[in-house]
Amino acid sequence: KKLAVFASGGGSNFKAIQTAIEDGRINARVQVLVSDKAGCGATEFASAHGIPCLRYPDPSVEKDKGLGRLLEELGETHGVDYVLLAGYMKFIPPELVRSYPREMLNIHPALLPSFGGKGCYGMNVHEKVVDSGVRFTGATVHFVNEEYDKGRIVAQACVPVSPEDSPEDVASKVLRREHELYPDVVAALCDGRIVWREDGKPVISTVL
Ligand code: GRF
Repeated sequence: KKLAVFASGGGSNFKAIQTAIEDGRINARVQVLVSDKAGCGATEFASAHGIPCLRYPDPSVEKDKGLGRLLEELGETHGVDYVLLAGYMKFIPPELVRSYPREMLNIHPALLPSFGGKGCYGMNVHEKVVDSGVRFTGATVHFVNEEYDKGRIVAQACVPVSPEDSPEDVASKVLRREHELYPDVVAALCDGRIVWREDGKPVISTVL
């Protein structure tokens, strides 16, 4: 399968996915990395691995042309089957979501629907988790729909929170767990092991 990864930051999830591909755990290849930031960890990693980078939004492209160009690059140029959001910090236009129905995943650093939605991203999520006093947080992989953080959940992983943990402690524990969870879900997606039940819920089937 052909993948596009969207990332704005360090790109550690992107790296985990690329490593899983290189190890033969995911049957796919990353055709293109899309980033709003030139020179972030994700774009540097992509360049080092011979993966083309696309800037979106690109400040040098007129606003009304940018999305059309992105869709064309993903579709015609790269033949992308699945879009993986991995710490992409910009707005995803509804047209893009509609172009990849049941074909776009995101990873969120908490147990949705808790600690999700607008205003819940980055370290902010972990600060809210610590402030709330919950004893467990985690990571959620979900399909992307037009409502922010509301797409169908595919898989979650739990991470314990100790009352002594700082938001930074929680962030690093969650991130480590993300690096196992996201590649596992992407592997299942690429193998056709995610089944949509009649009630509209996606589940990972263990039997092929
Ligand atoms: C992760 O915590 C992910 O859950 C969130 O953004 C962060 C990206 O980290 N959506 P990285 O760039 O993959 O290191």
